[in-house]
Amino acid sequence: MADLIRKKLSFFILLIFMGLGTGCSHGSGDDSYLKDFPFSMEGRVHPQVLEHLRSEWIDSAYFDRGMHTKGSQFRAVALTELVRRFHPEERWDAVLLNCHDDYQGIISIDDIISYDLRLALEMKLSPNVKRPAWLNPRVVIVPDNKEAPHQERFMTANIRELRFVRLSEYYAPLDAVALKSMHAHRGGQAFKDNCLFCHSLKGIGGNKGTDLLNAYDFAKGMDGPKFKKDFTAFHDEANTDKQDMEQFVDADTLRRLVVFLREVQGGS
Ligand code: HEC
Repeated sequence: MADLIRKKLSFFILLIFMGLGTGCSHGSGDDSYLKDFPFSMEGRVHPQVLEHLRSEWIDSAYFDRGMHTKGSQFRAVALTELVRRFHPEERWDAVLLNCHDDYQGIISIDDIISYDLRLALEMKLSPNVKRPAWLNPRVVIVPDNKEAPHQERFMTANIRELRFVRLSEYYAPLDAVALKSMHAHRGGQAFKDNCLFCHSLKGIGGNKGTDLLNAYDFAKGMDGPKFKKDFTAFHDEANTDKQDMEQFVDADTLRRLVVFLREVQGGS
């Protein structure tokens, strides 16, 4: 019964979108994606789908705090809308965000719903802000009435593709490493929330940053402190490319990150 309703609903949505597609000014373009709408390949969201969602201009104190800017504005769509209307398979519980600059973000559907996350299709920064090359739409935005945890996870920019995935499948190669200590577990969570997007491990994540397991030998007594020193030297507020990661990580968390990386390295 539920299946039947769902099928009917999908068909109804399909009809609406076919209607929108023909009414659209660039309707003469390639509409073939509508045939196997909404996902042509393994959970990938066709970019044109986003243009069909209702958008509005909003501020984001969360973004301005993370980027040390003021008064940034975004024309954004609601990701809850995307999930509600186009999330047909139960097994998918997250959206993978593949970016142009070898950054790979991921946000769970729970987070999308809890914090009413938006996706900016356009942005206006105040004129005195020097925009880093990577700061382009699409950008994940936390709207002003939501208190999302202060993490790099909610700052993904330069997104070229959204794809529905399953968290347990995505993290499987990393989660297969048997961590021994509670510190490593907590360090691992902090790494997933702030670092993996640029510093991949076990083939998961982005490759914009250094391969940390290659650059450091964490079993060596001196490499932990060197890692922390390099981190603070590169990822501080003065980072010219606005990659201030220090804001997300206190001294305890940084120590746990080292324990985590040491255990991952030892387990490989
Ligand atoms: C937005 C992408 C990005 C994120 C997120 C990120 N990093 Fe980086 N990281 C970089 C880049 C780029 C470099 C510099 C690579 C180079 O020197 O060419 C770097 C350098 C480093 C270095 C110094 C290593 C070196 O080769 O100089 C450390 C240590 C480091 N990152 C740790 C972290 C940790 C820990 C986190 C999470 C709290 C993190 N990074 C999050 C992009 C990122």
